[in-house]
Amino acid sequence: MSIEPKIRVGVLGATGYTGVELVRLLLQHPNVTITTLTSERSAGEKYADVFPTFRGQCDLKLEKIHAKEVAKQTTMVFSCLPHQTSMHHVPTLIDYGSKVIDLSADFRLDKLKVFAEWYGEHSAPSLLKEKTYGLPELNREAIKDAFLTANPGCYPTATILGLAPLLKEQLIVTSGIICDAKSGVSGAGRPPKQLNVYGEVNETLRPYGVDKHRHTPEIEQELSKLAAKDLLIRFTPHLIPMDRGILATIYAKPIKKMSTKDLLLVFEKFYGKEPFVRVLGEGQFPNTKHVRGTNYCDIGVHYDARMELIIITSAIDNLCKGAAGQAVQNMNLMSGLTETTGLMGTALVP
Ligand SMILES: NC(=O)c1ccc[n+]([C@@H]2O[C@H](COP(=O)([O-])OP(=O)(O)OC[C@H]3O[C@@H](n4cnc5c(N)ncnc54)[C@H](OP(=O)(O)O)[C@@H]3O)[C@@H](O)[C@H]2O)c1
Repeated sequence: MSIEPKIRVGVLGATGYTGVELVRLLLQHPNVTITTLTSERSAGEKYADVFPTFRGQCDLKLEKIHAKEVAKQTTMVFSCLPHQTSMHHVPTLIDYGSKVIDLSADFRLDKLKVFAEWYGEHSAPSLLKEKTYGLPELNREAIKDAFLTANPGCYPTATILGLAPLLKEQLIVTSGIICDAKSGVSGAGRPPKQLNVYGEVNETLRPYGVDKHRHTPEIEQELSKLAAKDLLIRFTPHLIPMDRGILATIYAKPIKKMSTKDLLLVFEKFYGKEPFVRVLGEGQFPNTKHVRGTNYCDIGVHYDARMELIIITSAIDNLCKGAAGQAVQNMNLMSGLTETTGLMGTALVP
Protein backbone atom coordinates (compact mmCIF):
# COMPACT_ATOMS: atom_id res chain seq x y z
CA MET A 1 0.00 0.00 0.00
CA SER A 2 1.47 3.37 -1.00
CA ILE A 3 1.24 6.23 1.46
CA GLU A 4 0.52 9.60 -0.19
CA PRO A 5 2.84 12.37 1.02
CA LYS A 6 0.99 15.02 2.98
CA ILE A 7 0.37 18.44 1.46
CA ARG A 8 2.72 20.96 3.07
CA VAL A 9 0.58 23.96 3.82
CA GLY A 10 1.29 27.56 4.83
CA VAL A 11 -1.22 30.11 6.09
CA LEU A 12 -0.36 33.79 5.60
CA GLY A 13 -2.26 35.90 8.10
CA ALA A 14 -2.87 33.03 10.52
CA THR A 15 -3.84 35.38 13.36
CA GLY A 16 -6.91 36.77 11.56
CA TYR A 17 -10.38 35.28 11.73
CA THR A 18 -10.21 33.41 8.42
CA GLY A 19 -6.65 32.28 9.20
CA VAL A 20 -7.57 30.83 12.57
CA GLU A 21 -10.61 29.08 11.05
CA LEU A 22 -8.32 27.56 8.42
CA VAL A 23 -5.90 26.29 11.06
CA ARG A 24 -8.84 24.73 12.92
CA LEU A 25 -9.94 22.90 9.75
CA LEU A 26 -6.44 21.98 8.55
CA LEU A 27 -5.48 20.39 11.88
CA GLN A 28 -8.37 17.94 11.37
CA HIS A 29 -7.45 17.26 7.73
CA PRO A 30 -5.87 13.83 7.20
CA ASN A 31 -3.76 14.83 4.17
CA VAL A 32 -2.18 18.04 5.45
CA THR A 33 0.87 19.08 7.44
CA ILE A 34 0.96 22.75 8.42
CA THR A 35 4.53 23.99 7.99
CA THR A 36 4.19 27.78 8.16
CA LEU A 37 1.94 30.26 9.95
CA THR A 38 2.55 33.99 9.57
CA SER A 39 1.83 37.15 11.48
CA GLU A 40 3.66 40.44 11.46
CA ARG A 41 2.58 41.63 14.90
CA SER A 42 2.95 38.28 16.72
CA ALA A 43 6.01 36.93 14.87
CA GLY A 44 8.17 34.80 17.17
CA GLU A 45 5.26 33.83 19.43
CA LYS A 46 3.87 30.32 19.65
CA TYR A 47 0.55 29.99 17.85
CA ALA A 48 -0.98 28.21 20.85
CA ASP A 49 0.05 31.14 23.09
CA VAL A 50 -1.77 33.57 20.79
CA PHE A 51 -4.78 31.23 20.49
CA PRO A 52 -4.97 28.98 23.58
CA THR A 53 -7.66 26.98 21.70
CA PHE A 54 -4.75 25.18 20.02
CA ARG A 55 -2.88 24.17 23.20
CA GLY A 56 -1.54 20.67 22.71
CA GLN A 57 -2.56 20.68 19.04
CA CYS A 58 -0.12 23.02 17.30
CA ASP A 59 3.54 23.59 18.22
CA LEU A 60 4.36 26.06 15.46
CA LYS A 61 5.74 29.54 16.01
CA LEU A 62 4.46 32.48 13.97
CA GLU A 63 6.86 33.92 11.38
CA LYS A 64 6.96 37.15 9.41
CA ILE A 65 6.22 36.68 5.70
CA HIS A 66 9.22 35.94 3.49
CA ALA A 67 7.39 34.70 0.42
CA LYS A 68 10.37 32.88 -1.10
CA GLU A 69 11.01 30.99 2.15
CA VAL A 70 7.31 30.21 2.57
CA ALA A 71 7.25 28.75 -0.96
CA LYS A 72 10.22 26.50 -0.13
CA GLN A 73 8.42 25.15 2.94
CA THR A 74 5.09 24.50 1.23
CA THR A 75 3.23 23.04 -1.72
CA MET A 76 0.02 25.01 -1.01
CA VAL A 77 -0.37 28.44 0.55
CA PHE A 78 -3.56 30.05 1.81
CA SER A 79 -3.32 33.82 1.84
CA CYS A 80 -5.63 35.26 4.50
CA LEU A 81 -4.24 38.78 4.22
CA PRO A 82 -6.16 42.00 3.68
CA HIS A 83 -6.84 42.96 0.08
CA GLN A 84 -4.03 44.97 -1.51
CA THR A 85 -1.57 43.15 0.78
CA SER A 86 -2.00 39.66 -0.62
CA MET A 87 -1.17 40.79 -4.18
CA HIS A 88 2.38 41.69 -3.11
CA HIS A 89 3.22 38.13 -1.97
CA VAL A 90 1.26 35.87 -4.31
CA PRO A 91 3.46 36.29 -7.44
CA THR A 92 6.61 35.24 -5.54
CA LEU A 93 4.87 32.23 -4.01
CA ILE A 94 3.80 31.10 -7.47
CA ASP A 95 7.22 31.81 -9.05
CA TYR A 96 8.83 29.60 -6.41
CA GLY A 97 6.45 26.72 -7.01
CA SER A 98 3.61 26.91 -4.49
CA LYS A 99 -0.02 26.75 -5.46
CA VAL A 100 -2.00 29.57 -3.88
CA ILE A 101 -5.55 29.96 -2.63
CA ASP A 102 -6.13 33.64 -1.96
CA LEU A 103 -8.95 34.49 0.42
CA SER A 104 -8.67 38.23 -0.18
CA ALA A 105 -10.39 40.07 -3.01
CA ASP A 106 -7.14 40.74 -4.85
CA PHE A 107 -7.67 38.23 -7.66
CA ARG A 108 -11.45 37.73 -7.73
CA LEU A 109 -12.28 40.34 -10.33
CA ASP A 110 -11.50 39.63 -13.98
CA LYS A 111 -11.03 43.19 -15.22
CA LEU A 112 -8.30 45.56 -14.06
CA LYS A 113 -10.54 48.56 -14.73
CA VAL A 114 -13.22 47.22 -12.37
CA PHE A 115 -10.60 46.38 -9.73
CA ALA A 116 -9.22 49.93 -9.95
CA GLU A 117 -12.67 51.42 -9.57
CA TRP A 118 -13.55 49.45 -6.41
CA TYR A 119 -10.19 48.73 -4.77
CA GLY A 120 -7.44 50.89 -6.35
CA GLU A 121 -4.10 49.98 -7.89
CA HIS A 122 -3.10 46.37 -8.63
CA SER A 123 0.54 45.27 -8.41
CA ALA A 124 0.09 41.95 -10.28
CA PRO A 125 -2.58 42.65 -12.92
CA SER A 126 -1.63 39.77 -15.24
CA LEU A 127 -2.75 37.29 -12.58
CA LEU A 128 -6.31 38.62 -12.73
CA LYS A 129 -6.71 36.78 -16.03
CA GLU A 130 -4.73 33.69 -14.98
CA LYS A 131 -6.51 32.97 -11.71
CA THR A 132 -9.46 30.63 -11.34
CA TYR A 133 -12.57 31.81 -9.47
CA GLY A 134 -12.96 29.27 -6.69
CA LEU A 135 -16.66 28.51 -6.41
CA PRO A 136 -16.61 24.70 -6.79
CA GLU A 137 -20.32 24.31 -7.51
CA LEU A 138 -19.87 26.38 -10.69
CA ASN A 139 -16.20 25.94 -11.56
CA ARG A 140 -15.11 22.53 -10.36
CA GLU A 141 -13.16 21.30 -13.39
CA ALA A 142 -11.17 24.54 -13.77
CA ILE A 143 -10.26 24.56 -10.07
CA LYS A 144 -8.74 21.08 -10.39
CA ASP A 145 -6.09 22.54 -12.73
CA ALA A 146 -5.63 25.91 -11.02
CA PHE A 147 -2.33 27.22 -9.66
CA LEU A 148 -4.00 30.37 -8.26
CA THR A 149 -7.52 30.15 -6.94
CA ALA A 150 -9.36 33.31 -5.95
CA ASN A 151 -11.57 32.18 -3.09
CA PRO A 152 -14.95 33.93 -3.37
CA GLY A 153 -16.13 36.54 -0.89
CA CYS A 154 -18.59 35.56 1.82
CA TYR A 155 -21.60 37.58 0.63
CA PRO A 156 -20.89 36.61 -3.02
CA THR A 157 -20.88 32.91 -2.08
CA ALA A 158 -24.31 33.09 -0.44
CA THR A 159 -25.77 35.29 -3.18
CA ILE A 160 -24.35 33.53 -6.25
CA LEU A 161 -25.34 30.07 -4.98
CA GLY A 162 -28.83 31.43 -4.29
CA LEU A 163 -29.31 32.77 -7.81
CA ALA A 164 -27.26 30.42 -9.99
CA PRO A 165 -29.98 27.86 -10.89
CA LEU A 166 -32.50 30.53 -11.90
CA LEU A 167 -30.08 32.54 -14.02
CA LYS A 168 -28.56 29.50 -15.67
CA GLU A 169 -32.02 28.24 -16.63
CA GLN A 170 -33.11 31.77 -17.69
CA LEU A 171 -36.11 31.72 -15.36
CA ILE A 172 -35.83 35.25 -13.93
CA VAL A 173 -35.79 38.78 -15.26
CA THR A 174 -32.16 39.91 -15.12
CA SER A 175 -32.93 43.50 -14.11
CA GLY A 176 -34.15 44.55 -10.67
CA ILE A 177 -32.72 41.64 -8.65
CA ILE A 178 -32.43 42.60 -4.97
CA CYS A 179 -30.24 40.97 -2.32
CA ASP A 180 -30.74 41.96 1.31
CA ALA A 181 -28.03 40.25 3.36
CA LYS A 182 -27.02 40.10 7.02
CA SER A 183 -23.63 39.17 8.42
CA GLY A 184 -22.17 38.42 11.84
CA VAL A 185 -19.40 40.65 13.14
CA SER A 186 -16.47 38.33 12.28
CA GLY A 187 -17.09 39.33 8.65
CA ALA A 188 -15.22 42.55 9.42
CA GLY A 189 -12.05 40.76 10.55
CA ARG A 190 -10.31 40.67 13.93
CA PRO A 191 -8.76 44.11 14.34
CA PRO A 192 -10.88 46.26 16.66
CA LYS A 193 -12.84 49.07 15.06
CA GLN A 194 -15.04 51.58 16.86
CA LEU A 195 -18.21 50.34 15.16
CA ASN A 196 -17.49 46.68 15.91
CA VAL A 197 -16.95 46.82 19.66
CA TYR A 198 -19.54 45.12 21.90
CA GLY A 199 -21.26 48.31 23.04
CA GLU A 200 -21.84 49.40 19.45
CA VAL A 201 -22.85 46.03 17.96
CA ASN A 202 -24.83 44.30 20.69
CA GLU A 203 -28.65 44.67 20.63
CA THR A 204 -28.66 46.47 17.30
CA LEU A 205 -29.10 45.87 13.59
CA ARG A 206 -27.99 48.24 10.87
CA PRO A 207 -27.27 48.44 7.17
CA TYR A 208 -23.84 49.52 5.98
CA GLY A 209 -22.19 50.17 2.62
CA VAL A 210 -25.61 51.06 1.21
CA ASP A 211 -24.21 53.42 -1.43
CA LYS A 212 -21.29 51.17 -2.43
CA HIS A 213 -20.18 47.78 -1.13
CA ARG A 214 -17.08 46.20 -2.67
CA HIS A 215 -18.74 42.78 -3.06
CA THR A 216 -21.21 44.20 -5.60
CA PRO A 217 -18.90 43.97 -8.66
CA GLU A 218 -17.84 40.43 -7.74
CA ILE A 219 -21.45 39.29 -7.45
CA GLU A 220 -22.38 41.03 -10.71
CA GLN A 221 -19.37 39.55 -12.53
CA GLU A 222 -20.28 35.95 -11.68
CA LEU A 223 -24.05 36.39 -12.10
CA SER A 224 -23.45 37.97 -15.53
CA LYS A 225 -21.50 34.88 -16.60
CA LEU A 226 -24.41 32.67 -15.51
CA ALA A 227 -26.94 34.85 -17.33
CA ALA A 228 -24.65 35.19 -20.38
CA LYS A 229 -25.32 38.94 -20.31
CA ASP A 230 -24.29 41.88 -18.14
CA LEU A 231 -26.57 42.47 -15.19
CA LEU A 232 -26.72 44.68 -12.10
CA ILE A 233 -27.87 43.75 -8.61
CA ARG A 234 -29.12 45.86 -5.71
CA PHE A 235 -27.05 44.52 -2.79
CA THR A 236 -27.56 45.84 0.75
CA PRO A 237 -25.54 44.29 3.61
CA HIS A 238 -26.41 44.56 7.32
CA LEU A 239 -24.39 43.97 10.46
CA ILE A 240 -26.06 41.73 13.01
CA PRO A 241 -25.00 41.00 16.61
CA MET A 242 -23.72 37.44 16.23
CA ASP A 243 -20.18 36.05 15.80
CA ARG A 244 -20.64 34.21 12.54
CA GLY A 245 -23.13 33.61 9.81
CA ILE A 246 -24.65 35.19 6.72
CA LEU A 247 -28.27 35.11 5.65
CA ALA A 248 -29.05 36.49 2.20
CA THR A 249 -32.67 37.09 1.22
CA ILE A 250 -32.94 37.58 -2.53
CA TYR A 251 -35.91 38.81 -4.58
CA ALA A 252 -36.30 38.25 -8.32
CA LYS A 253 -39.11 38.52 -10.87
CA PRO A 254 -39.96 35.29 -12.73
CA ILE A 255 -40.09 35.23 -16.53
CA LYS A 256 -43.33 33.22 -16.32
CA LYS A 257 -45.72 32.15 -13.55
CA MET A 258 -44.29 29.41 -11.33
CA SER A 259 -44.96 27.72 -7.98
CA THR A 260 -42.73 26.89 -5.03
CA LYS A 261 -42.77 23.27 -6.22
CA ASP A 262 -41.50 24.35 -9.67
CA LEU A 263 -38.72 26.33 -8.02
CA LEU A 264 -37.70 23.43 -5.83
CA LEU A 265 -37.45 21.13 -8.84
CA VAL A 266 -35.09 23.61 -10.52
CA PHE A 267 -32.86 23.93 -7.43
CA GLU A 268 -32.86 20.22 -6.69
CA LYS A 269 -31.88 19.39 -10.27
CA PHE A 270 -29.17 22.08 -10.40
CA TYR A 271 -27.53 21.15 -7.10
CA GLY A 272 -28.17 17.41 -7.51
CA LYS A 273 -25.52 15.64 -5.50
CA GLU A 274 -23.55 18.75 -4.50
CA PRO A 275 -22.06 17.80 -1.13
CA PHE A 276 -22.27 21.26 0.43
CA VAL A 277 -25.50 22.75 -0.90
CA ARG A 278 -28.63 21.64 0.94
CA VAL A 279 -31.87 22.60 -0.78
CA LEU A 280 -34.59 22.69 1.88
CA GLY A 281 -38.12 21.39 1.38
CA GLU A 282 -41.27 23.46 0.77
CA GLY A 283 -41.98 25.82 3.68
CA GLN A 284 -38.48 25.37 5.14
CA PHE A 285 -36.00 28.20 5.37
CA PRO A 286 -32.36 28.31 6.42
CA ASN A 287 -31.05 29.32 9.81
CA THR A 288 -27.46 30.49 10.30
CA LYS A 289 -27.16 28.25 13.35
CA HIS A 290 -27.68 25.14 11.24
CA VAL A 291 -24.57 25.90 9.15
CA ARG A 292 -22.38 27.40 11.88
CA GLY A 293 -18.83 25.99 11.70
CA THR A 294 -19.75 23.88 8.65
CA ASN A 295 -19.12 24.16 4.92
CA TYR A 296 -22.81 23.97 4.04
CA CYS A 297 -24.88 26.49 2.15
CA ASP A 298 -28.56 25.98 3.03
CA ILE A 299 -31.09 27.33 0.54
CA GLY A 300 -34.84 27.78 0.93
CA VAL A 301 -37.14 29.07 -1.81
CA HIS A 302 -40.67 30.47 -1.97
CA TYR A 303 -42.94 31.64 -4.78
CA ASP A 304 -45.11 34.60 -3.80
CA ALA A 305 -48.09 34.14 -6.12
CA ARG A 306 -49.74 37.39 -4.96
CA MET A 307 -46.80 39.51 -6.10
CA GLU A 308 -45.42 37.10 -8.70
CA LEU A 309 -42.07 37.25 -6.99
CA ILE A 310 -39.41 34.64 -6.24
CA ILE A 311 -37.80 34.70 -2.79
CA ILE A 312 -34.57 32.80 -2.21
CA THR A 313 -32.95 32.58 1.21
CA SER A 314 -29.38 31.36 1.49
CA ALA A 315 -27.37 30.81 4.68
CA ILE A 316 -23.66 30.12 5.15
CA ASP A 317 -21.03 30.52 7.83
CA ASN A 318 -19.01 33.49 6.56
CA LEU A 319 -15.80 32.03 7.96
CA CYS A 320 -16.41 28.52 6.62
CA LYS A 321 -18.26 28.17 3.28
CA GLY A 322 -17.70 31.94 2.98
CA ALA A 323 -13.92 31.65 3.48
CA ALA A 324 -11.82 28.89 5.12
CA GLY A 325 -14.07 25.88 4.44
CA GLN A 326 -14.47 26.79 0.80
CA ALA A 327 -10.68 27.29 0.63
CA VAL A 328 -10.14 23.74 1.94
CA GLN A 329 -12.72 22.48 -0.58
CA ASN A 330 -10.64 24.20 -3.27
CA MET A 331 -7.39 22.75 -1.91
CA ASN A 332 -8.92 19.26 -2.06
CA LEU A 333 -9.86 19.80 -5.70
CA MET A 334 -6.46 21.30 -6.60
CA SER A 335 -4.71 18.35 -4.92
CA GLY A 336 -6.72 15.51 -6.44
CA LEU A 337 -8.32 14.62 -3.09
CA THR A 338 -11.95 13.79 -2.42
CA GLU A 339 -13.62 17.19 -2.34
CA THR A 340 -15.24 16.72 1.06
CA THR A 341 -12.10 15.58 2.92
CA GLY A 342 -11.85 17.22 6.34
CA LEU A 343 -15.07 19.15 5.84
CA MET A 344 -17.93 16.93 6.91
CA GLY A 345 -18.34 18.34 10.45
CA THR A 346 -21.82 19.03 11.83
CA ALA A 347 -22.99 22.32 13.35
CA LEU A 348 -23.28 22.47 17.13
CA VAL A 349 -26.77 22.18 18.67
CA PRO A 350 -27.36 24.46 20.57
N1 LIG B 1 -13.82 37.66 7.81
C1 LIG B 1 -14.55 37.09 6.86
O1 LIG B 1 -15.68 36.65 7.09
C2 LIG B 1 -13.99 36.94 5.46
C3 LIG B 1 -14.68 36.11 4.56
C4 LIG B 1 -14.16 35.95 3.27
C5 LIG B 1 -12.99 36.61 2.91
N2 LIG B 1 -12.36 37.43 3.79
C6 LIG B 1 -11.12 38.07 3.35
O2 LIG B 1 -10.03 37.30 3.84
C7 LIG B 1 -8.94 38.14 4.20
C8 LIG B 1 -8.65 37.96 5.68
O3 LIG B 1 -9.80 38.31 6.41
P1 LIG B 1 -9.83 38.22 8.00
O4 LIG B 1 -11.22 38.53 8.40
O5 LIG B 1 -9.21 36.96 8.46
O6 LIG B 1 -8.89 39.48 8.38
P2 LIG B 1 -8.19 39.83 9.76
O7 LIG B 1 -8.90 39.19 10.89
O8 LIG B 1 -8.02 41.30 9.76
O9 LIG B 1 -6.73 39.16 9.62
C9 LIG B 1 -5.75 39.66 8.76
C10 LIG B 1 -4.46 38.86 8.89
O10 LIG B 1 -3.51 39.44 8.00
C11 LIG B 1 -2.34 39.85 8.73
N3 LIG B 1 -1.91 41.13 8.20
C12 LIG B 1 -2.57 42.32 8.26
N4 LIG B 1 -1.89 43.28 7.60
C13 LIG B 1 -0.77 42.69 7.14
C14 LIG B 1 0.35 43.15 6.38
N5 LIG B 1 0.42 44.42 5.97
N6 LIG B 1 1.34 42.29 6.08
C15 LIG B 1 1.27 41.00 6.47
N7 LIG B 1 0.25 40.48 7.20
C16 LIG B 1 -0.75 41.33 7.52
C17 LIG B 1 -2.77 39.95 10.18
O11 LIG B 1 -1.61 39.62 10.96
P3 LIG B 1 -1.08 40.41 12.24
O12 LIG B 1 -2.05 41.52 12.50
O13 LIG B 1 -1.02 39.39 13.34
O14 LIG B 1 0.28 40.88 11.85
C18 LIG B 1 -3.84 38.87 10.28
O15 LIG B 1 -3.25 37.62 10.52
C19 LIG B 1 -9.38 39.57 3.87
O16 LIG B 1 -8.88 39.93 2.61
C20 LIG B 1 -10.90 39.48 3.87
O17 LIG B 1 -11.52 40.45 3.04
C21 LIG B 1 -12.82 37.59 5.08
